[in-house]
Amino acid sequence: MADTWSSADKFNREASQWDENPQRRAVALGVAQAIIVAINPDKTMHALEFGCGTGLVSMEIAPLVKTLSAIDTSREMLAVFHEKISTCGITNIETSCTNLSVSSETEFKEQRYELIYSSMTLHHIDDTAAFLNRLSELLSPGGIVALADLDLEDGLFHDDPLENVHHGFDRTELAALLHAAGLQVTSFETIYTFNKTNRAGISAAYPVFLVTATKTQSVTSE
Ligand SMILES: C[S@@+](CC[C@H](N)C(=O)[O-])C[C@H]1O[C@@H](n2cnc3c(N)ncnc32)[C@H](O)[C@@H]1O
Repeated sequence: MADTWSSADKFNREASQWDENPQRRAVALGVAQAIIVAINPDKTMHALEFGCGTGLVSMEIAPLVKTLSAIDTSREMLAVFHEKISTCGITNIETSCTNLSVSSETEFKEQRYELIYSSMTLHHIDDTAAFLNRLSELLSPGGIVALADLDLEDGLFHDDPLENVHHGFDRTELAALLHAAGLQVTSFETIYTFNKTNRAGISAAYPVFLVTATKTQSVTSE
């Protein structure tokens, strides 16, 4: 993917209106409910969401877990989330403006999580294989990853043709990457479908999957 387009700039611009889009709220709620059903998060868990945005998913998950680290690369998305955290008096969420895919990020080196999840963020991360290895390192033994994202799409889902993203994921290929990262897939299901007019003006359906996988072995770095 080209490196001139800035994801942080885009989401900083969109943050104040993010929650006004009903499909965004609906997919986030669908993801949260699917994670709750698939994983049954509990109060022993330290959880991490990468690409938490304005916290639409994590506001549902936080009451169920012990602690929640919510990270994003957009300060403005996190500012909207902070507002909710403080309005609701939530005490178990810590936020961080961090790009986990950058190897120099040391903040999370010592942390381990029983649950790592995301919604509609994996397609923004360039090197999927390297990133899944990073997630695997951050999981405790037996820890679970739950990733919601678009199935392989026609390349027209995002309105801006310059947007620097993967055009969804092929399930078989993603399962193979998870396996290579030491993560055993436990479920792969369709949990939501975006019905939208894409940027070519065509009404189209874009399914969203949730894949869950458990850490089965440690990945040794070369
Ligand atoms: C499509 S939005 C989804 C936001 C939120 N999960 C939701 O469902 O409303 C993608 C989010 O991922 C964040 N993001 C993109 N690349 C990232 C990265 N490398 N690390 C962490 N967050 C990232 C963006 O800033 C944005 O908030």
